[in-house]
Amino acid sequence: MWEKEAWKLLENSIIYYQGRPIGTKAAQDPEMKSLNYDQCFIRDFVPSALVFLMHGRTEIVRNFLTETLAMQSHDKGMDCFEPGSGLMPASFKVEHDGEREFIEADFGEDAIARVPPVDSCLWWILLLRAYVKATGDIALAHQSDFQTGMKLILDLCLVHRFSMYPTLPVLDGSFMIDRRMGVGGHPLEIQVLFYAALRTVKELLLPQDGGDRYLDAVIQRLGALRYHIREYYWLDLQRINEIYRFKNDEFGQEVANKFNIHPESIPAWLTEWLPENGGYLAGNLGPGHMDFRFFALGNLMAILASPASSEESQSIMNLFEERSCDLIGFMPLKICFPAVEGLEWRIVTGSDPKNLPWSYHNGGNWPTILWLFAAAAQKTGQQELASRAIALAETRLIEDRFPEYYDGKQGRLIGKSARIYQTWTVAGLLAAKEIMNNPKHIELLSFEEEIESPGCRVW
Ligand code: GLC
Repeated sequence: MWEKEAWKLLENSIIYYQGRPIGTKAAQDPEMKSLNYDQCFIRDFVPSALVFLMHGRTEIVRNFLTETLAMQSHDKGMDCFEPGSGLMPASFKVEHDGEREFIEADFGEDAIARVPPVDSCLWWILLLRAYVKATGDIALAHQSDFQTGMKLILDLCLVHRFSMYPTLPVLDGSFMIDRRMGVGGHPLEIQVLFYAALRTVKELLLPQDGGDRYLDAVIQRLGALRYHIREYYWLDLQRINEIYRFKNDEFGQEVANKFNIHPESIPAWLTEWLPENGGYLAGNLGPGHMDFRFFALGNLMAILASPASSEESQSIMNLFEERSCDLIGFMPLKICFPAVEGLEWRIVTGSDPKNLPWSYHNGGNWPTILWLFAAAAQKTGQQELASRAIALAETRLIEDRFPEYYDGKQGRLIGKSARIYQTWTVAGLLAAKEIMNNPKHIELLSFEEEIESPGCRVW
């Protein structure tokens, strides 16, 4: 009967504003009250929102969407200390000054290392779609303030920048991994969320009031982005063989090695590790740079949002099956594999003691990702894999009081600085269970594969 206990925890985590539920606290650890875990993080709210929607508790999600929309940044010019127009906060909390309640949002000004939460605005768009799917209340998305909110996000993401790719360039630590981890540039997680958000806009943005201009840009970007992710991020044995024999310093349009990846950068572990029938999308891709690490969230979301083809999706799930020791271990799921160690750890993390090898973001295990695993397994028909992972997590999570993350190569240790009663751990497990019981739930965040349009311009 752990579900009852989990629901109680979820219930107790709810944040109220003027008597209305508007989000959930990140954690309710009675021993560690410091930092900002009493706030509602937009990304952390995703599994909670799904669970609420699955149970017809749609009001909290609607309130969340409306309140966070009101927090969206509208900067007043070129002030370098103001969050860019369209940005959504990383987190927010409700404060009282004796007389009244007010909401305080954090766009990264208070966050450790001042990291900008690029993923927040993308998750927000995805939650809007999930809400519309669950309730049929398309009128909310069609309201003019919601239409403007989406356009502001598009302004932020689609503008011309110092970039030649259809992908979105971001700083290190701008998503779930919100510390320096060598994930700046064009990290997979952001590209896949960006792709999913653009697909949502295509469904929810109205052509009137200039919307048609945005829609044209969105459609063009989607084709280029999908091609880019599928073709250039994809790694399997065949692709590694191609990269291994790449020529370098090629000039011009029609070259095989577009990003000038040096074959010498293929890490030694990779060729041994990749199974014959498995593959995945690389962690990052930029000039002369391919991050060969495996990142779970980006890959699973790629299955759900379908920048990955259905064949690629199967290969990703095969990889989980064949390398479950590394990617699931004793606690699903490994956030990224492998850990960076030694001198590389010094250079990549800036000697961060929280991100020691096989700890926290650097190869730790995060149970919240379980809901995405369940959804990806449902979509690819690999339910058995998810059922095993859930069974493994269930008992331990309850005994260990729902920690934020686990450490160790196989996730056998409760994370050194992990909070207990972490809300997205609770909600991640609940959502995973619900998804296994009712496959229809994946529609909340899943997209059909898009048909290639022959006319689309690719780079
Ligand atoms: C940590 C995680 C981040 C999460 C936050 C609140 O900073 O890295 O992804 O949103 O905690 O749980």
